[in-house]
Amino acid sequence: MPPSTAPTVVVSGIQPSGTLHIGNYFGALRQHIRLHTRHEAYYFIVNYHALTSVRDADLLRRYTLDVALDYLALGFDPEKASLFVQSDVPQVTELAWIFYNLTPVSALEKGVSYKDKVAQGLSPNAGLLNYPVLQAADILIYGGTLVPVGADQKQHIEMTRDLAMRFNATYCLEDDPIFPVPEPLILEDVAVVPGVDGRKMSKSYNNTIGIFDEGADLKKKIMGIVTDSTPLEEPKDPEKDNVYALIKLFADPEKAREVASAYRAGGYGYGHAKKELLGLMTAYFAEARERRRELAARPDYVRDVLRQGALRGRARAETFMERVRERTGLLTTI
Ligand code: TRP
Repeated sequence: MPPSTAPTVVVSGIQPSGTLHIGNYFGALRQHIRLHTRHEAYYFIVNYHALTSVRDADLLRRYTLDVALDYLALGFDPEKASLFVQSDVPQVTELAWIFYNLTPVSALEKGVSYKDKVAQGLSPNAGLLNYPVLQAADILIYGGTLVPVGADQKQHIEMTRDLAMRFNATYCLEDDPIFPVPEPLILEDVAVVPGVDGRKMSKSYNNTIGIFDEGADLKKKIMGIVTDSTPLEEPKDPEKDNVYALIKLFADPEKAREVASAYRAGGYGYGHAKKELLGLMTAYFAEARERRRELAARPDYVRDVLRQGALRGRARAETFMERVRERTGLLTTI
């Protein structure tokens, strides 16, 4: 079947390497939630990938379950799509191995994300270098056609497309490819969510606001957002301010316009804006926060959701892997 008429299969992975923050939410998670009821979708918590940064077993387990709780709390419906733990489908590492043999080391060494992570102090080991190959396996093993991700993943999806094409060209007849070539879905307008220090919100900059932060903790983070020192009385340009950039994400358009005019009129200080943001963010996630509390009291249910998801994921992965083993000449005797 030509790829253009193939049904959409949405796939994405999310790292369990720390508390999910609002940069993750607007960059990717919100799109995941929106898409999962419209198409066949596979979302996996990429614990193999997280081994590049998390070296504590208890912590990795906790982060993994936390991501599952976050998804369910934010509206993921396990009846409609599959959510599971990456390592519950170990076939992805098998496919990654096959892909290594189609990947020039030089392409990996040029990886922007690899170079960034090494610059931030992560050890430049083979896991980190090969990270994009495992990601390609993640996507292609479910026959993914659409990959909603944050803007920083552009190059990884490019590498995935290259691998799909290279595998098909190497092992398949032209009219019978195994892997569809996936498209990224990147929402450029929300690409950059500022962190409390004004740089891009990122775990590695330690400037995040957690989706489920609340109370004194949330207040402290919001009050600490860096602004310029324009005095309260003076007019301000909302488009140059980090607090307003965040307000815009949580407010409806009318509210956002109202706040913008208050900035421009003067007599409205950054303290006012921060209180506004605190109120908006608290209200925005109120329902999800409540649901998360309920779910946290039902760990067996959460594990069951992941198990059911993994069974569906594995079944789909196996259909691809059987063909891959056959085409590549990996003899199976049991
Ligand atoms: N590299 C992605 C990130 O850091 C996570 C990821 C792993 C992923 N495997 C994936 C994303 C497959 C999309 C599809 O956000």
